[in-house]
Amino acid sequence: MTFVVTDNCIKCKYMDCVEVCPVDCFYEGENMLVIDPEVCIDCGVCEPECPAEAIKPDTEPGLENWLSLNAEYAKSWPNITQKGEAPADAKEWDGVENKYDKYFSKKPGSGS
Ligand code: SF4
Ligand code: F3S
Repeated sequence: MTFVVTDNCIKCKYMDCVEVCPVDCFYEGENMLVIDPEVCIDCGVCEPECPAEAIKPDTEPGLENWLSLNAEYAKSWPNITQKGEAPADAKEWDGVENKYDKYFSKKPGSGS
């Protein structure tokens, strides 16, 4: 089991999650973060910290694609351990459905 970042992180990217992870396994893309499933110790501490409820245990059904995406981009995006400034319009994007199809960016973030 691991935890994964899912669709609602896109364009919300609050980053509260990174501050609590004991093993620093978050990686930063341009408009979302991912968790490295190989490093995550399944402590679950980050899940309630996300204001967008975008972090889920991969035991929930239908998250296979998100698990693959987290694993893939954790390899190429930079590590992030400090909360940066969330997008100014983050609240407007919270809850918009299927953000992945239109808005997912493969570009890396700046990391910290
Ligand atoms: Fe980090 Fe724990 Fe969240 Fe895994 S479940 S990403 S180890 S805080
Ligand atoms: Fe994304 Fe939630 Fe973290 S919106 S950046 S998973 S706090």
